[in-house]
Amino acid sequence: MSLYAEPRTVFSIDDCHFYHTMDLPGVGTVIGDWDLRTGVDDYLGRLSFADTRVLEIGPASGYLTFEMERRGASVVSIEVPDDPGWDFVSFPSAVLDPVLPPRREIMRRLKNSYWFAHAANKSRAKLHYGDAYNLPDAIGEFDIALMANVLLHCRAPLQIVEQCARRAKTLVIVEMFYPELEGSSICRLAPSAENKQWDTWWHFSTDFFRQYLGVLGFLKVETAISAHTHLQTTSYPMFTIIGSREQA
Ligand SMILES: C[S@@+](CC[C@H](N)C(=O)[O-])C[C@H]1O[C@@H](n2cnc3c(N)ncnc32)[C@H](O)[C@@H]1O
Repeated sequence: MSLYAEPRTVFSIDDCHFYHTMDLPGVGTVIGDWDLRTGVDDYLGRLSFADTRVLEIGPASGYLTFEMERRGASVVSIEVPDDPGWDFVSFPSAVLDPVLPPRREIMRRLKNSYWFAHAANKSRAKLHYGDAYNLPDAIGEFDIALMANVLLHCRAPLQIVEQCARRAKTLVIVEMFYPELEGSSICRLAPSAENKQWDTWWHFSTDFFRQYLGVLGFLKVETAISAHTHLQTTSYPMFTIIGSREQA
């Protein structure tokens, strides 16, 4: 089997679920769940992407993929395969059974949105459907690895950070910002029997990643906070952490 997916031809935009609001050549603006357009420089840590090779974990509709590519990056993205799909939280089947079939359909339409936007942008970005906990060596080495709003959805987030650290000189992690967690290296369990949050495992402090990036030898670590818009109405604070192997 080939390492990278063959582009899917998506015949109708109506068969897409857009996670990102995007301006697509020849199509116009499509409205998605998150609009990162005005804050994308902050979201991506104000890095230069010219002549870089970028590993991106979890592209969703690919707004960041195509934006980094537009800025000069050659991008390889990793997305969950259809089966087993996400790392859903281990709730009993009474909780998961009703939600998983609609979720699978949203994922099918989300993947369609990536390929629809890929075609509209005439993108050369590559996509590997596979296991971010065990990336294949054949994907090679990278200048930058981006893990943006994906680690919260993963049971073992630090294993994914390690996988990226083995392959990239600079790591970028974006997550929701929770002021009450700041000051300690904390990873708080999000789901409970009451909230039944089956798609999110963790809330992180910035200290949690700063400390762990140091452990991995990424000694120069910068942190920034920025706000981004969800469903065209609500603004949420997020942090971006950039770790590189240079000395602090
Ligand atoms: C919340 S979206 C974030 C999209 C984009 N990175 C951003 O910051 O706007 C999470 C994305 O990560 C993907 N994802 C979730 N778990 C993953 C995993 N274990 N490996 C790779 N991708 C994953 C989801 O399918 C989705 O595309």
